[in-house]
Amino acid sequence: MVIVVGNQKGGCGKTMIATNLAAALAGKGKDVILFDADRQESASKWVAERGEYQSDSPVINIGMGYDNISFTLKDLRKRYEVVVVDAAGRDSDEFRTSAIVADILLIPVKPSKVDVKVLPSFLQIVKQAMFVNDALKVFAFISIAPTHSKNKEIEQAREIIQRISDFTLLDTVIHDRKGFRDAFGDGLGAVECNTDKLAKVEIESLIAEVLNGF
Ligand SMILES: Nc1ncnc2c1ncn2[C@@H]1O[C@H](COP(=O)(O)OP(=O)(O)OP(=O)(O)O)[C@@H](O)[C@H]1O
Ligand SMILES: [Mg+2]
Repeated sequence: MVIVVGNQKGGCGKTMIATNLAAALAGKGKDVILFDADRQESASKWVAERGEYQSDSPVINIGMGYDNISFTLKDLRKRYEVVVVDAAGRDSDEFRTSAIVADILLIPVKPSKVDVKVLPSFLQIVKQAMFVNDALKVFAFISIAPTHSKNKEIEQAREIIQRISDFTLLDTVIHDRKGFRDAFGDGLGAVECNTDKLAKVEIESLIAEVLNGF
């Protein structure tokens, strides 16, 4: 199975979600490879940190590739149970060529006006990918959401996303939590740290909603 985490908008939590998914699925005993398709190499750095300091955690292999990655992903799908792709932001060849072969696309969206405003142009690219890959399952979700209970941005963003997109908007909301940042810095996923239970619950909920018993 190939799961791509993508959004044209930078800084919406793509790498955070990709690494957390990889860690959580590896923890469930799945044979996982994380594929870094972003020249910033953030996911690769996370794996390097993990390899150096987290010898007790399940090993996650890393692949890297740029430009047209569709052939590489098709090959990796035969070798691994799960391939998690951290696709570059912008309108990248890496995103387009992964979306045409992927099984699942996860779109993290920050609940800010700027992020929601630029979403339609990305959704257009997703629709084009679906002309080629009509089996692609697409899920959007709110990411890096403020934890302040009086903040209305989450509901406002959800309403707009539902209005502008035909894709499933997940109930799971990934909040802005220090636990995510701390785990990432140590080469871990939130499910592997007991310091922030809420971060762990959110990743488990995301997996339950998207993979439903996998
Ligand atoms: N749920 C979260 N809680 C707290 N901090 C987060 C969360 N998700 C991401 N961050 C932080 O926000 C910043 C952007 O996240 P990330 O690098 O995952 O975004 P990205 O979409 O991959 O960015 P880029 O487009 O540059 O690749 C990082 O500093 C990351 O540590
Ligand atoms: Mg990134």
